[in-house]
Amino acid sequence: MRLWRRNATVKGERVGFVPTMGALHEGHLSLMRAARNECDRVVASIFVNPLQFAPHEDFGKYPRTFQRDLELMSAEGVDAVFYPNEKEMYPEGRESVTRVVPPCELADCLEGHFRPGFFTGVATVVAKLFNIVLPEAAFFGEKDYQQLLVVKRMVGDLNLPIQVTPVATVREADGLALSSRNVYLSEEERKIAPMLNRTLNFVKDAAQSGQLSLEAALEKGRADLKALPDVELQYLEARQADTFQPAAQFELPMVVVLAAKLKNVRLIDNVVVR
Ligand code: PAJ
Repeated sequence: MRLWRRNATVKGERVGFVPTMGALHEGHLSLMRAARNECDRVVASIFVNPLQFAPHEDFGKYPRTFQRDLELMSAEGVDAVFYPNEKEMYPEGRESVTRVVPPCELADCLEGHFRPGFFTGVATVVAKLFNIVLPEAAFFGEKDYQQLLVVKRMVGDLNLPIQVTPVATVREADGLALSSRNVYLSEEERKIAPMLNRTLNFVKDAAQSGQLSLEAALEKGRADLKALPDVELQYLEARQADTFQPAAQFELPMVVVLAAKLKNVRLIDNVVVR
């Protein structure tokens, strides 16, 4: 990887980087297209990072479709793929690796509350990948909005010379955000899943139009989701889009975020209001 990077540097090429955990879909590919548009060379990584999974989570059964991923990336014109194994990333064992701990106001709420240690796992692996690939620019999806803010904050706090570019969420025709975990959904759950995005849009529209106060719109959204069969709402909240501080009333820019479990499948989504 380093040799490849050095060659790009010698040629004066700008390198764009897209970190992923594989099981690629159109959402990932849109990041690669954005990188392709803005950079001379594109590197993607595939690494299902054990450090960001809790013991009860789906690390073992996370979808792995490496050959297909390679074909998709090749069709997108990705120049290099970095796919380390666990021993290469954590030679001393992941338990004892030096970690990057993002600030608690960003990392301990919402996703971090339901997945303790998740953002430390993400920040640590992203920092390692950045230091291996040494990209000028890196591309992250707004689908994982809190993750995007954690990465941006790490880049600022640690003075990493990398431009972080957000890419809009890619959705199915019915609004369901693409996710590698959608393959876990049963036929029944797949029918209910678009309700998550529909509810986010309801909250946004009701609060933006002034039809309801932000809090009333969120309460209605929560009640609607809780009324659905087999849906366990974990959170539905509005935050300031830049700082991730709670939004007390409708304000711009704002993000409405949610996480819900459809039986055993945990999905997240958000809508950004600019
Ligand atoms: P993964 O879930 O594979 O996602 C890789 C990138 O694709 C992330 O930046 C994510 O936000 C983006 N992405 C996923 N679904 C998307 C969609 N529907 N539209 C647009 N972008 C989408 O996120 C991770 O992997 C890991 O935490 C990682 C950053 C690689 C660190 O291990």
